[in-house]
Amino acid sequence: MNQLALHRKLAMEDLQDLQSAKPENLFEQRLETNLPLIEDLFFSLYTSPEHRTYFKKLKKLLPELFKKRPEDLKYQDLRLLKQGNWYQSNKITGMQLYVDLFNKNLKGIEEKIPYFKELGVNFLHLMPITTRPAGENDGGYAVNSYTEVDSKYGNRKSLLELTSKLRKNGIYLMLDFVVNHTSDEYPWAKKALEGDKTYQDYYYMYPDRTIPDAFEANLPEVFPSTSPGNFTYRPEISQWVMTVFNSYQWDLNYTNPKVFLEMLRNLVEMTNSGVDVVRFDALAFLWKKIGTISQNLPEAHQLISLFRMCLQVVAPGVIFLAEAIVSPHDIVKYFGEGRREGNECDVAYNASLMSLLWNSIATKKTLLLQKSLHNVPQKPPSSTWINYLRCHDDIGLGLDDGYIAQLGWDPWLHRKFLIDYYCQGLDWSPAVGYKFMENPATGDSRITGSCASLLGLEKAMRTLDSEMVMISVKKILMLHGIILSFGGIPMIYAGDELGTLNDYSYLDDEHKKQDSRWVNRPSHNWEAVAQLSEPDKPSSQIFIGIRHMISLRSKTGVFTDRNNLVVHDPRNQHLFLYERTGAKLEGVLVVANFDESPQILDAGILSNLGYVNDGSLRDLLSDGKWKLTSSLVQIDPFQILWLVKD
Ligand code: GLC
Repeated sequence: MNQLALHRKLAMEDLQDLQSAKPENLFEQRLETNLPLIEDLFFSLYTSPEHRTYFKKLKKLLPELFKKRPEDLKYQDLRLLKQGNWYQSNKITGMQLYVDLFNKNLKGIEEKIPYFKELGVNFLHLMPITTRPAGENDGGYAVNSYTEVDSKYGNRKSLLELTSKLRKNGIYLMLDFVVNHTSDEYPWAKKALEGDKTYQDYYYMYPDRTIPDAFEANLPEVFPSTSPGNFTYRPEISQWVMTVFNSYQWDLNYTNPKVFLEMLRNLVEMTNSGVDVVRFDALAFLWKKIGTISQNLPEAHQLISLFRMCLQVVAPGVIFLAEAIVSPHDIVKYFGEGRREGNECDVAYNASLMSLLWNSIATKKTLLLQKSLHNVPQKPPSSTWINYLRCHDDIGLGLDDGYIAQLGWDPWLHRKFLIDYYCQGLDWSPAVGYKFMENPATGDSRITGSCASLLGLEKAMRTLDSEMVMISVKKILMLHGIILSFGGIPMIYAGDELGTLNDYSYLDDEHKKQDSRWVNRPSHNWEAVAQLSEPDKPSSQIFIGIRHMISLRSKTGVFTDRNNLVVHDPRNQHLFLYERTGAKLEGVLVVANFDESPQILDAGILSNLGYVNDGSLRDLLSDGKWKLTSSLVQIDPFQILWLVKD
């Protein structure tokens, strides 16, 4: 049994009676159980004899950090452990939002708890809320502090008030831990800029181009248009600083154990505000090595697991989300492999599903989606996905060129088609999206735009085309119907539940206009919320449709993620067919039509799977039951069915 599983078992046994549980004793027990793995992980990264003293420091630090954990959170940890893998439950639905754009500040979020409840959302991802540079700051992902709340959102007190209210209302909270880099205004960076060698060693910095050039030979560029290259020259100290993301985001040097120890402190302090899930930002980049692309390296996994195991000792209720937008084979590794299985991240973004769904909308076909899903490696039983359509970032076309070619398509042309389809390169396309980080040399680009605008609602409203509006609403609901039934936490990007369109106001802001991701970071449309009783409005139809699906999801046990997803062959290239399997009559079979024409599904497939009863089918979504009149079932354009056995 792995460490975490062992610990959970111990915790269950000891927690029969929460009232009499003694967090201190349990801490000792966890420390003892986890220390051997922590030691192994530490020395696998920090191998020289002088690193021994840092391990001693780590051993001293863990009890110190536990002591500082607030008492109520110590009990909350135990409650969460007792609940088991709550994050796999069908009763969890998430929403990601920018605090200021949603409702001004932390107090404003507290006021909107009834809105989350009304929709059925009980898991929030608040975008960065800590202090950041005044100008460009990558939406707060350039951090000046890991714990100090930026005054525009509130302060420590309002954060604690919010987290306590959320807990009382059964709403889980996720915050980012920007683990790969700090801003160039972070106290360590400031000291480094004053010439302090100790803090210069917290980052990667070099007096000339020799090492930077050696790195550059293999490093890709994350933001090639706005921040080309991976190093930034700082004349104040005559050094080239590693800046893989933006020039003002300095990569932390984790080969220095002091950095790990300090960041562990920051991590624990951040979670002490009442965080249930830590979003480990850009974690694929944590370890750098000349001659490699410095992503997904084995040492990065060891480091994440080291953070995880230490946090497990101090704050065992808190779990980790991997923000690794990499290939499916690389993503599953963040759940931990071998000895690390279950000891790394519990949740990861299902970036592959996201980009494949967008691919299927543009092509109206599901072939690549099916082929790719069949080849996604199985994840460990204790883990789960975050399934999403849009987020604050761009859509990267992380598609497998090999599979594209196997379908008889030219990978380069196929990508070009997708970019043209979404970024206004084709007159007939309904999408209104924008290119992000275009590379004119290769024609490569990523895509920005809100869910609704990419699915045609903006163009339809602009041209007053009511038929197109209806199609767009159907597409929005169908895609949400997929992420709500697929297995994992569905994460709704705030605004998408109302079909919010692109927001162009960022073009008037000096510090934002060069980053088209801001087009899909709109202010929340409270006016549309006030008009939800007007059923003709697309926003109302979308909201009501999504709310209905969330509610059904929470009543449907097989939507709990038990690795019970089977993708079936619909024998029709426009349909997507998968099953959430359960005992006897519990399964749900999902059918979605990605084409604008009605499509035919062979009823034989449904009866073989047990979803035809007395010649009838039953759909949960429409609560409809109908008799089959032929051996073929018609699925309407962009229709989604959640079929159940009767
Ligand atoms: C993550 C964030 C992204 C940010 C980057 C650098 O990928 O999602 O918005 O730019 O990290 O912190």
